[in-house]
Amino acid sequence: MSFRIKDIRARQILDSRGNPTIEVTTILEGGGRGKFSVPSGISKSEKEAVELRDGGRFLHGKGVLKAVRNVNNIIRPALIGREALNQALIDSILLKLDGTPNKSRLGANAILGASVSVAKASSDQLELPLYKYLGGIEARLLPVPFMNVINGGMHAGNRLNIQEFMIVPSNFSSFKEALLAGVQVYMDLRDILISNYGRSSVNVGDEGGFAPPLSKTEDALELLLKAIERSGYEGKIFLAIDCAANEFYMSKEEKYAIDGRKMSPEELIEFYKELISKYPIVSIEDPFQEDDWGSLSEFTKVMGNKVQIVGDDFFASNPRLLKKGIGMRAANALLLKVNQIGTLTEAIEAARMAERNGYSVMVSHRSGETTDPFIADLSVGLNSGQIKSGAPARGERVAKYNRLLEIEGELGPSAQFLSFHQIFNEKLFLK
Ligand code: PGA
Ligand code: ZN
Repeated sequence: MSFRIKDIRARQILDSRGNPTIEVTTILEGGGRGKFSVPSGISKSEKEAVELRDGGRFLHGKGVLKAVRNVNNIIRPALIGREALNQALIDSILLKLDGTPNKSRLGANAILGASVSVAKASSDQLELPLYKYLGGIEARLLPVPFMNVINGGMHAGNRLNIQEFMIVPSNFSSFKEALLAGVQVYMDLRDILISNYGRSSVNVGDEGGFAPPLSKTEDALELLLKAIERSGYEGKIFLAIDCAANEFYMSKEEKYAIDGRKMSPEELIEFYKELISKYPIVSIEDPFQEDDWGSLSEFTKVMGNKVQIVGDDFFASNPRLLKKGIGMRAANALLLKVNQIGTLTEAIEAARMAERNGYSVMVSHRSGETTDPFIADLSVGLNSGQIKSGAPARGERVAKYNRLLEIEGELGPSAQFLSFHQIFNEKLFLK
């Protein structure tokens, strides 16, 4: 049974925002097939690998036909006949073909589509579920879901500066129980919003969370607490935020503009400390603008043994940037988004580096997604123990949660589910 690549082709499809994205299909000589569609963010880091778009007026420049051509005309002839099981070799060929440090020639979207579709084709031919192909028999830890139930920032039309308000169903004995508890809170939150702000407040944002007309961070957190209380899950479901602080950073002089105030990094640290003391917040992502490494280090020094501090835009899933963060003791967790870096091998390298250094790993979707459930398998394959895939609403969000339910069922009694604190405290112990 040959694992050599017989064909690899791309086409343009649409993502959850209606923007074009690329889907790549790989077929092996032995018949294995793999298909992957690439997600796309909107609150992006400057340091992400380049997403190649066509430009021009049509589709607001967002077409990906150049990236499609790069797969069909450049990547295809270079990969045909290659051994798909050797993912590291496939990815190194892709890197060489591109030849730029940020994948700007072929496009990280073209490269990632090829990289992941090859892995999927191999797992298909081996008749192994993808999480097992990626993680072997060790792969049995289902992740704690970080469910973004109130959307703000760039993902919604309200005035909340913080981009994501998440509930973290943690103290449960299975992923299924945790997920359904999260759904219960989502439903109760919906009722509370309707009675406080009317029906238009439960329109959803890009990640399926509600987008109520709020403008203050604490108002959103209070609503989440109320919903958790109404559901009866106090002490079992916690809170997390993704500040995506790039989006409310003005300049060195003008500082951070949040909740109608202008704050210096020091004041912002105090602001976060107060939130943490008032609310059951267990995880904070991108609390500062992505170049403000000093503040990230300082914040980690004072709060890093108490809360998880996640680097998304800071690290851009890039092993080189993560290394810098580890050296500065900046943050204590890595947000892993495969399309930020552009190959499966590099993404896994970043996750392993995080693990070796006592950083936790949260596998993540993008705000522009497709129904491809790949990250569900990736999170179990890496035993990351944490995933964020938005609210339990919108097909592209629930595709991942539904796949995790399927994986848990398939693993049966060998499936494992640990609380957030079990995962986080074990990492602390490693440091
Ligand atoms: P993005 O946002 O996918 O729009 O970049 C997600 C995040 O910041 O975590
Ligand atoms: Zn983020």
